[in-house]
Amino acid sequence: MKVHVSDHPLITHKVTVLRDEKTPTSIFRELISEIVTLLAYEATREIKTTPTQVRTPVAMADGALLTKPDPVVIPILRAGLGMLDGMVRLIPSVQVGFLGMVRDEETLQASTYANRLPSDLRGRQCFLLDPMLATGGTLVAAIHYLLDLGASDITVICIISSPEGVAALEKEFGDLDSSITINILTAALDTKLNEKGYIVPGLGDAGDRLYGVV
Ligand code: URA
Repeated sequence: MKVHVSDHPLITHKVTVLRDEKTPTSIFRELISEIVTLLAYEATREIKTTPTQVRTPVAMADGALLTKPDPVVIPILRAGLGMLDGMVRLIPSVQVGFLGMVRDEETLQASTYANRLPSDLRGRQCFLLDPMLATGGTLVAAIHYLLDLGASDITVICIISSPEGVAALEKEFGDLDSSITINILTAALDTKLNEKGYIVPGLGDAGDRLYGVV
C-alpha cells in the first residue's frame, strides 16, 4: 500500500482556506471540488490507456484513450458526495457507484447502510472518495467491500488524513498480495485524532460544513 501526501502549493493554499472556520459553505463546497480535481490529476497518473490513432485535419496522429471499461468512482456518503463533482470534471466518462457508510459516534465503528455498485469490480480501476481519513474504520470497511466485489486496483482520495487513520489502513492492507494495489492520496496529513475522533487541526465535520448540520 502506498501513501502519497500532496505537496502542491495550490493544494496547500486551498486546504488552508478550507480549514478556516470562517469559510462559508458555498466557498467550502467549491474548494473541495477544486482540490479533488487537482488531487485526481495526481491520482490518475497511472491510469490505463490504450494506444490509438486519430485523423487531424492535416494527418494521422498517434494518441491514447482511456482503456475500457471506464474507471469507477465511489464517493462514500455523505461527505464523499461533495468530492464527486471535482472527479467527474476531470474524467467525465467515469461510472459512479455509491457507498453509504455510517460511523457510530460512541464506538467509532463503521457499517454500510446503502450501496449502489457494479456487482463485479474485477479489472476495474476504483477511486474511493472520502474527505476525512480519521480512525480509518470507514475506509477499512469500504475497501473490504470493494475487495469482496473483486476489485484489485483501488485509489483512495482524501482531503485530510490522520496518522492514526493511515496506520489503521497500513495494518489492515499493508501485507496484501502483490496483485492487489491500494494507493492513498491525501492533500494533508495532520497531527492526531482527538478523544472524539476528530482530526486535529482538521477542519471540523466535513459533512456538516458541506451540507449543514442535520
Ligand atoms: N470526520 C470529519 O468530518 N471530521 C473529522 O475530523 C473526522 C471525521
